[in-house]
Amino acid sequence: MSTNKVNFSSKIGLIAATVGSAVGLGNIWRFPGEAANGGGAAFLIVYIACVFLLGVPVMVSEFALGRGGKSDAVGVFRNLTPGKKWWITGMLAVVASYMVLCFYMVVAGWTLEYLWQSVTGHLYAADPGATLDSIDSYKAQFAERMHQYIQEDWSPLVNTYVMIGINLLVLMAGVQKGIERLSNLLMPLLFVILLVFCVVALSLPEAGAGLSYFFQPDFSKLTAKVVIGALGQAFFSLSLGMGILVTYSSYFPKDTRLTRTAVTVSVLDLLVAVMMGIIIFPAIMSFGLQGEAIQGTTLVFVTLPEVFAHMPLTQLWSSLFFMLLLVAALTSTISIAEVTIAFFQDRLNMRRLPACLAVLMPLFIFSTLCSLSLGTLDGVRIFGKTIFDFFDTFATNILLPIVAMTTCIYLGWFAPKGFLQQQMTNEGAVRSWILRPVRFIIRWIAPVLIFIILISPLLFP
Ligand code: PHE
Repeated sequence: MSTNKVNFSSKIGLIAATVGSAVGLGNIWRFPGEAANGGGAAFLIVYIACVFLLGVPVMVSEFALGRGGKSDAVGVFRNLTPGKKWWITGMLAVVASYMVLCFYMVVAGWTLEYLWQSVTGHLYAADPGATLDSIDSYKAQFAERMHQYIQEDWSPLVNTYVMIGINLLVLMAGVQKGIERLSNLLMPLLFVILLVFCVVALSLPEAGAGLSYFFQPDFSKLTAKVVIGALGQAFFSLSLGMGILVTYSSYFPKDTRLTRTAVTVSVLDLLVAVMMGIIIFPAIMSFGLQGEAIQGTTLVFVTLPEVFAHMPLTQLWSSLFFMLLLVAALTSTISIAEVTIAFFQDRLNMRRLPACLAVLMPLFIFSTLCSLSLGTLDGVRIFGKTIFDFFDTFATNILLPIVAMTTCIYLGWFAPKGFLQQQMTNEGAVRSWILRPVRFIIRWIAPVLIFIILISPLLFP
């Protein structure tokens, strides 16, 4: 039986690292758009319910699996139920996380480029001949830039490679000296930047209108599709179903209280999403951008630069924002990469450095393909999708729910008897008030709901 011996060195460090994984582009650019489509607070209420009723129990289960199995995502199943095929679930988690890593690294590269362009001011330098006196021309300029940029061959690649290099440096330094130390440094920074932006957003002229847009529930927009979207968003945002939390919790010491940790991480992740709402809605209201896209890449690479362009101290705000994005993306890529690194270390008995290299070097091929598939390689299609979209859809819409669902079924029904209880109570040392509801949810509710997420593309084509 292979076990890993490293642990996070402090409670704060372990929370910072786990929050670092959870808080990512999902909170910053997916959440506000989903909230806008789902009727503001109406969506928020459903989302909060998803986080606490489903997200927290599934997170506790993943923690139990990792801390109790003390190995990588595959090894935990082997350690707990040797001779059974449950490890295939772990294998799927490794594949899913690696596929996410391939395209997430490219997006992380974009944030680096935009940070760089903000710092140097290039992002806001007018194109020769353009007159940037109206909002429309700004918008056209940023949209055009974004469009052109991601289709380029070289520049996005260079940035992606720099991100791979930074990941390598951090990951090579190990769990405590690399992941934990970086998270301890960057997570407080992330919250400080968010707070600064909240203050700025709340002092904008139309802050009140923005907030009421966000906090006033419009229940008419709550369709089944929106509700399932909220569930999916909760899973993605909390980094569930990819072996990440299993891997990180295998570094949790024996006395870590799993329920408390899961609640803390989920609340902080939720807080970041809500803070993004508090920032985005006043900003778009104040600059008359209500009709603009607040969805995904367009929000961060087109709409927000427009906002900054209309504010005093444009470069400062822009740089700070892309720094925020970079921090969020970096701590997430690191956690995703760690899944396969731990797998190589534990399964193949590789040492840390070769394992890091074996995980990150192939990205020079896979992330390159993802990046080029948005431009030169657009014609290469897998099931009708570009390579980038295929990696994204296959990993997050198919593998993620399958892994999450099987993990729940395993822990609810097939793990060694009393295992969940042992883990949730630290072998009887502490009480866990929510043991029963958690067990009930992961046995009966979570598998069904996750199955619905899985087949939802068929239900709502
Ligand atoms: N949870 C991260 C986010 O919200 C993304 C992520 C997904 C990270 C899957 C790791 C794995 O952006």
